[in-house]
Amino acid sequence: ADTLGSAAAGKGRYFGTAVAAGHLGESAYTATLNREFTSVTPENEMKWDATEASRNVFTFGAADQVVNHARGRGMAVRGHTLVWHSQLPGWVGGLAAADVRSAMNNHITRVMQHYQGEIHSWDVVNEAFQDGGSGARRSSPFQDKLGDGFIEEAFRTARAADPAAKLCYNDYNTDGVNAKSNAVYAMVRDFKSRGVPIDCVGFQSHFNSASPVPADYQANLQRFADLGVDVQITELDIEGSGTAQANSYASVVRACLAVSRCTGITVWGITDKYSWRSSGTPLLFDANYAAKPAYGAVLSALGGT
Ligand code: G3I
Repeated sequence: ADTLGSAAAGKGRYFGTAVAAGHLGESAYTATLNREFTSVTPENEMKWDATEASRNVFTFGAADQVVNHARGRGMAVRGHTLVWHSQLPGWVGGLAAADVRSAMNNHITRVMQHYQGEIHSWDVVNEAFQDGGSGARRSSPFQDKLGDGFIEEAFRTARAADPAAKLCYNDYNTDGVNAKSNAVYAMVRDFKSRGVPIDCVGFQSHFNSASPVPADYQANLQRFADLGVDVQITELDIEGSGTAQANSYASVVRACLAVSRCTGITVWGITDKYSWRSSGTPLLFDANYAAKPAYGAVLSALGGT
């Protein structure tokens, strides 16, 4: 009769899910959320286009719904995300460099202060590195106008805005040891050596047949932890079904449990019905909220029954 959340708590971890405010009125969705999970990440509601669609006009209604639901039930909240090239309103791209800087710092400060004391970890900067072997930064208004230093500036601003929140860098295709994760690793090592505030690194962990759970997943989590940051699995989903999917999920959980600084796991949605992979079945509950084999595998890997 254990749940994902209670079993994970027995191992000193949280077990979270992405939540969309628009589904909270659906009783099976909310019942599953309330029963199984101890942390939530608003799937879209805290992104820049949702919170500051017009410059310096902040709207928190949908994000507040998710936060209030979670906090009222003792769940933790991951903040996602402050500075990202996607879901970014067009006005940001139209600004000159000095204005991009002030808009970025104002956005971080206002959003973090609105949620002060309610967020255990913030994805301060999301997906700032390119895919492929170059290790280069991805083009964005922040990168293009402010250069590599925008990431450091964002973290310093975030620390000042809410000194109690853990500050994370979050990305995908960084789950194993590869050129992209090497580039992120070099950045985190540099930040730690110079005292730039960073507390955690998020590994999104979106897996499918073309991009399966890497054999060196645990080793990669461990090398980041060894830099002196927590690591978190932040957007886990795994395409597939049946035993193969279940085994992959179990391997992810075992990797996290084997790394003492891996503080929690978040799956990117509750039910296959609402996955961002619209044609796929990557989550732990099927479209009717029945627990899949992957659910049982995760529960037992967490030591639950
Ligand atoms: O809310 C609008 C709605 O008003 C409009 O009618 C409709 C028409 O397209 O779009 C709705 O917005 C959609 C939004 O999800 C809310 O449902 C966007 O089109 C759609 O692009 C957006 O997709 C989100 C995606 O990020 C955007 O980049 C997914 O839900 C969300 O799961 C996904 O999450 C990302 C993480 O933030 C970062 N890492 C990758 C991950 C998966 O892509």
